[in-house]
Amino acid sequence: MPVVNHREKAEVPPKYRLFCLDCGWESDPEFRLRCPRCSGALDPRINLENATERDSGRPELAYLDFLPVESEHFLDADISVRTPCRPAPHLGAAIGLPRLWVKDESQQPTGTTKDRLASVVLAVFRQFGINEFVASSTGNSSTALARAVQRDPSMGAHFFCGRDFTGDHDIETGDRVSLTVVDGNYAQATQAAQEFAARNGLVWEGGFFNWARREGLKLTYLEAFEAMDDKPDVVVQAISSGMGMMAVRKGVAEYLACGRLTSPPRLLMVQQDTCAPMAAAWSEGRAELTEDDVIERPTGLARAILLGDGRATYPYMRDIAAESGGAIVSVSQDELVQARTMLRELEGLDVCHSSAATIAALRNEAAARRITPDKVVLVNLTGRERYTASDAGPALAAATAG
Ligand SMILES: Cc1ncc(COP(=O)(O)O)c(C=O)c1O
Ligand SMILES: [Zn+2]
Repeated sequence: MPVVNHREKAEVPPKYRLFCLDCGWESDPEFRLRCPRCSGALDPRINLENATERDSGRPELAYLDFLPVESEHFLDADISVRTPCRPAPHLGAAIGLPRLWVKDESQQPTGTTKDRLASVVLAVFRQFGINEFVASSTGNSSTALARAVQRDPSMGAHFFCGRDFTGDHDIETGDRVSLTVVDGNYAQATQAAQEFAARNGLVWEGGFFNWARREGLKLTYLEAFEAMDDKPDVVVQAISSGMGMMAVRKGVAEYLACGRLTSPPRLLMVQQDTCAPMAAAWSEGRAELTEDDVIERPTGLARAILLGDGRATYPYMRDIAAESGGAIVSVSQDELVQARTMLRELEGLDVCHSSAATIAALRNEAAARRITPDKVVLVNLTGRERYTASDAGPALAAATAG
């Protein structure tokens, strides 16, 4: 795959510019994670004049006009796939929301929506001539990124994970891909990863603050909006750092600008009771999380969303909930188990507890009449369970046994 730094051929105007979401600072395309003026998250604003969906079975090629990728040559189009988005009438009826739609991201090659971010992150790295990087995650993002790296002989990566999350990583290590297990939680693994990157002069991939991740995840939603007969009044996703939610907001804004959506949906975010700092702060009307909100060693069935320290990204989630008329809610472990069973029995969908959190939350919102039966609701089922019951302890084994 050719590696070209597009800044060397600067005669053509860039397809996008980077903007700070907090202060409006802007620049030409570069691989920068945070605003130099205020440390806010940066976001690419793409020139959507004449943007169209192309006829391609590959998501990144179909939506290339909506991506901060200058040429299809930077893409390995076999990283992610288009996924089904369909009505879920049986489940919808059971939870009192008959106009329920599900987007099934568990069909992605590594089993989660994170294949979408892997595809665009690697394309953006190639675009900037980056061929080695350092990353960390609770498991799904690193698993997806590692597979994408393995497919490109010119790319290398170093992954870090907390000891409790080793079983959530399905990474084939070798000459170009390593996995370092850190004695600590996800936040501590991230810290170790960043220090390793700085010490070795390597690129820190950035997690939530890597705008390329959010752009990849955005395609889930563009596909879903296209597939739906009626456009959604409410969109629901489980959140950890909240990249997926940033992606929905971006996709909605772009589709409103292109006239492909006529009104913005309410955005509902879901955590689980054992690790719900953002939901707690939202319900108390707080603008920020503090040290007291940090959960040192989070546990819970929805393992993909076990981020105990949400301080860096909560303000963005709070804004998304407030702007869209949405909310950040939490569900119990029992509700997760029930929702997962309902998905399986009523719709034949075998997804992970993080995905099922959406249904648990909707059931509560519908029962409280905060979402009424006339509403069109879209849930993102972000993935399936990839690890074995024995990795995850007796709670999961019990939950998956039935
Ligand atoms: C299956 C699944 N669902 C949801 C999420 C939520 O992630 P985020 O809020 O960081 O986008 C993750 C993150 O790892 C995940 O793996
Ligand atoms: Zn700024």
